[in-house]
Amino acid sequence: MTKRADPGARAREYAVRAPGRVNLIGEHIDYHGLPVLPMALDRAVRIEARPRDDGRVALRNRDPRFPPARFDLGPALAAAAPGAWQNYARAAAHVAHALGARRGVDAVISSDLPAAAGLSSSSALVVAVALALLAANELDVPALELATALARGERFVGTEGGGMDQAVCLAARAGHAMLIRFDPLSCRPVPVPDGWRVWVAHSGVDAEKSGAARDAYNRRRAEGRAALARLAPGVTFAEALAREPAEDWVARAERRLDDVLLRRFRHVVLEAGRVERAVSMLEARDLEGLGALMTRSHASLRDDYEVSHPRLDRLVDAALAAGAAGARLTGAGFGEIGRA
Ligand code: GLA
Repeated sequence: MTKRADPGARAREYAVRAPGRVNLIGEHIDYHGLPVLPMALDRAVRIEARPRDDGRVALRNRDPRFPPARFDLGPALAAAAPGAWQNYARAAAHVAHALGARRGVDAVISSDLPAAAGLSSSSALVVAVALALLAANELDVPALELATALARGERFVGTEGGGMDQAVCLAARAGHAMLIRFDPLSCRPVPVPDGWRVWVAHSGVDAEKSGAARDAYNRRRAEGRAALARLAPGVTFAEALAREPAEDWVARAERRLDDVLLRRFRHVVLEAGRVERAVSMLEARDLEGLGALMTRSHASLRDDYEVSHPRLDRLVDAALAAGAAGARLTGAGFGEIGRA
């Protein structure tokens, strides 16, 4: 971390921008330390800010659904009510404070990312608030270091998330997907061939990550861990897959795990293999091949991981019927989880 040599920065108004993302493939496996392949969107959270002389953070959101927020930087900063949007800003404030930020900001937030739609609007908000605070304090933090700190910091809202969203938000490159690996975090840009188009469509079913979907998300993570602990105690998913092919692990899981844990485990280990193959397909410009992997990923998320929704399944079918090479759920899923 370095201090930026721009003493005038404090007095000026400035703007920061943090894009949302669409994940091409590799869903619900980042929190198990397995690779993912997202790309940034051209939609983003944007913050216009002015540094303050004290540690107050005063945020106004142009979207009237999100009321103004005020709090002070510091280690004692507590969470607001569960589900409150400002908890994402508070998470960012904790991380920025730990990285040396002492000055707060007066800031206005705007976004053209739909919230609760699986496009990482919440992590984009976390990244944007952190960037605004770091800029106010003339602090420069390398992207991957910041991504790692923010992924951990975002757990402040109670979701045991992985590190995909923050990493692609901070390290994305235009025209490229990002192969993200964890432990340690690394990002490799993979060019998306000219003429390929990724269409993002909303099923119309929302899933609020800090709300009801949070418990279901954390439960999935716990189920994956429990399954692995049963089959290979003391070993990470990455270590297990380095040792033996995913298909052998699935065969063992079929003998030793009950229905739910077996299906969660099977999704995780097979999805990791699909990510590796997807990278090869992108590099080989094999659109049909990549599409088939994406559609298989969706079936696994629907049947084994149980995070889809009938309306999302119909949207996938419609996209395929209309000629898409592949179609799938992106993001955490769990639309309308309250219905269960
Ligand atoms: C959310 C989390 C990510 C990832 C996805 C599912 O977006 O923030 O870390 O786990 O769900 O792939």
